[in-house]
Amino acid sequence: MLKSFWFWFLLTFMAIQFIPIDVPAYIKTSKKYEIKAPQEIMNILKNSCYDCHSNQSTYPWYDRIAPASWFVKNHVKNGRKVVNFSLWNNYEVKKQKFFLNKLEKSIVIRMPMPSYLWLHQEATLSSKEKKLLQEWGNNLKEKLK
Ligand code: HEC
Repeated sequence: MLKSFWFWFLLTFMAIQFIPIDVPAYIKTSKKYEIKAPQEIMNILKNSCYDCHSNQSTYPWYDRIAPASWFVKNHVKNGRKVVNFSLWNNYEVKKQKFFLNKLEKSIVIRMPMPSYLWLHQEATLSSKEKKLLQEWGNNLKEKLK
């Protein structure tokens, strides 16, 4: 019984590797559209958010293995839709504000996503980093008014 479980498990695992999947590509984008922020903030964004919220997504090898790759694909596809920091300066102020309004709560509760942090622990935000991001977001929001 146990043996046949692992047999089918392995077979399935190998089979799903052949399902074609197009993980969103790394897209070279002109720097002039990229968000501008103090270095400290840029470091946080690049370290913890850029994989899903920019055109500069990087995928370690294990992100390319199914079923992980299925999650990665949707995270990046949907993440870029919410906000793409590579295209920030191209956004209407309304869209920038919409995002900044969500930022404060999201980074405390659910960003980066737990399913991502499980394999990318280096992206976890410390409470100091969360605070920095929130302050930055709120300041920026004020400026956009
Ligand atoms: C693993 C991919 C991933 C990473 C890393 C990630 N996000 Fe997201 N983010 C998403 C996806 C997917 C959504 C849209 C679906 C959702 O809201 O769950 C989203 C939504 C959001 C939203 C909107 C939430 C809402 O309430 O509608 C904000 C704000 C956000 N992300 C900020 C961030 C910030 C800031 C970081 C870095 C500290 C970050 N995200 C890192 C994938 C990611």
